[in-house]
Amino acid sequence: MAKRILVTGGAGYIGSHTVVELMQQGYEVVVVDNLSNSNINVLDGIASIVGRRPDFVNADCCDYVAIDNVFRSYTDLCGVIHFAAAKAVGESVEKPLHYYRNNIHSLTTVLELMQEHKVNHIVFSSSCTVYGQPDADHLPVDETAPRKKALSPYGNTKQINEDIIIDQAHAYDKLHAIILRYFNPIGAHPSALIGELPNGIPNNLLPFVTQTAAGLRKELRVFGNDYNTPDGSCIRDYIYVVDLAKAHVKAIERMLSAKAEEQVEVFNLGTGRGLSVLEIIREFEKATGQKLPYTIVGRREGDIEQVWADPTKANTILGWKADTPIHDVLLSAWNWEKHLRNIP
Ligand code: UD1
Repeated sequence: MAKRILVTGGAGYIGSHTVVELMQQGYEVVVVDNLSNSNINVLDGIASIVGRRPDFVNADCCDYVAIDNVFRSYTDLCGVIHFAAAKAVGESVEKPLHYYRNNIHSLTTVLELMQEHKVNHIVFSSSCTVYGQPDADHLPVDETAPRKKALSPYGNTKQINEDIIIDQAHAYDKLHAIILRYFNPIGAHPSALIGELPNGIPNNLLPFVTQTAAGLRKELRVFGNDYNTPDGSCIRDYIYVVDLAKAHVKAIERMLSAKAEEQVEVFNLGTGRGLSVLEIIREFEKATGQKLPYTIVGRREGDIEQVWADPTKANTILGWKADTPIHDVLLSAWNWEKHLRNIP
């Protein structure tokens, strides 16, 4: 019988790509999402790609009764992938309590109900934001690098949630968890049927790039060219969202086949290669043939100068590697933007 996974936030950007990969690997999926930052039509995109629709429950993960009902309705759940969270750094500074309530209460609710219903495997979406700016001797950054004090309530919720999982695993010895620390997810499914749907003016680089190329924005602003990097712009590890999604399937499989060596395991998910903002612009122009107007402006407050992953642990232990060429990744982002805007 197919194994059933509960995916919270499964209508969101990384969630929807993960649902596709799970279903293509034969899993049954129940998506729980309150559609606060996603669109119900995403399920149509998933269904077109996979050929069948995931089950869907419109519910907030902070709603104990609603989520309890999900666990009661699906008594064969064998794991949870918990994406549901708010993720805008700037907004989290404006509305810290919303972030603490939403991101933390949802996880505690899910963990409580998992114990109650004896569902003992969870994959948690964390972020490289927990490392802050790693010291030079920790670049590329591996999982042993110390976590730094969070620069925003959003980042703090990731750290707190990691700690909550560790504490719960300590108290409840049947729980197994895999914490995935994502670097910078970009791109869209190669079908261009699902992708990132930023709300309003995008904060993240790639949606801004594709919207500029599509003519929605006059120019991209590059935040700073006076950093201590080869071309002066910031460096990140941009990871293809489909590669990232596949890591979640590996993580679930690892726990279900009882291969996890520790109750809580942590993996960095990145490519191992850092690219600067200016390199991304050049690569985007090369991949798509689109001219990208840009201007250099001052630094963005709170930006980290450079961070990229040492993904060796995920490569060797999870048996996963992010190996899609950046050309294909950027082209997928552009094809998705064209799909959204009906650009031929
Ligand atoms: C941001 C968050 C991080 C979160 C991640 C999720 C901040 C400070 N950090 O990471 O906590 O986990 O998103 O995806 O918001 N850039 C420009 N022009 C733009 C937009 C971005 O030059 O219009 C540059 C930024 O300065 C940065 C790079 O592009 O160097 C990537 O920015 P972004 O996509 O916002 O990601 P992060 O800042 O790395």
